[in-house]
Amino acid sequence: MLAADAVERYRQTGYHFPLDVLSAAEAAAARARLEAQEAALGGALAGALRQKPHLLFPWLHELVRHPVILDAVESVLGPDLLCWSSSFFIKEPQAPGYVSWHQDATYWGLSSPDIMTVWLAFTPANEVNGCMKFAPATHHAPVGHRDTFDADNLLTRGQELTVAVDESQTVSVHLQPGQASLHHVLLHHGSAPNRSADRRIGYAIRYIPTYVRQVAGATDSATLVRGTDRFGHFEPEAAPLAGMDAAAVAQHRAVTERQAAVLYRGTGRAAFRA
Ligand code: NI
Repeated sequence: MLAADAVERYRQTGYHFPLDVLSAAEAAAARARLEAQEAALGGALAGALRQKPHLLFPWLHELVRHPVILDAVESVLGPDLLCWSSSFFIKEPQAPGYVSWHQDATYWGLSSPDIMTVWLAFTPANEVNGCMKFAPATHHAPVGHRDTFDADNLLTRGQELTVAVDESQTVSVHLQPGQASLHHVLLHHGSAPNRSADRRIGYAIRYIPTYVRQVAGATDSATLVRGTDRFGHFEPEAAPLAGMDAAAVAQHRAVTERQAAVLYRGTGRAAFRA
């Protein structure tokens, strides 16, 4: 579990890092597995395949249930936990992709800000390759966003804060492969393009306590990863039996289509872009 002072700092600042999850060798193996999958598919995971890939690949399903991660999440959110989503944030070498300053909660349609992202580094994350930056203690209230749909923005709508960020007060989230950061769903955060010669790969996993509900009008689903679900607000999701087996692919398609409908609601778009 996280130490009590780390939990207290998380509540005050909205984040915690680093959390040591995987060894360097395990992180290298995770990257190799991802890249073998990309090679088999003929390119980087695109569109809906970047979303909830733990419903497609058993090794990612195991990763979202990693005991070190769940112990840390439980320290803040309690013992009954769902994995609501996960997605890869991959920045190719010297590519223009970036993440504008934003709060995660804005379009997720969830009933509570008791939501944590665990961002697990498969490669180093640093200034040169566009690590995340956090604006400490900005997680106490939702603020306005505008949608830009900027082609280089890695967020679904290219959404960005309508309030200014004081860059001098931000914290760069430097991580080694296998380390993770934790952040609150309302924390202001963003990241710059990758100016390095290697890829920057992060896997963002979103956790909620079982009492949270989807309130955007859609049926939603999640994976129980610890404890019991006494509420049943989310349809349970089945674990993949093998990499991209037929049942897993069918479930993943249905689940991500519904998720896209929530995230893009009101925009006229209905599918994750490539
Ligand atoms: Ni975010």
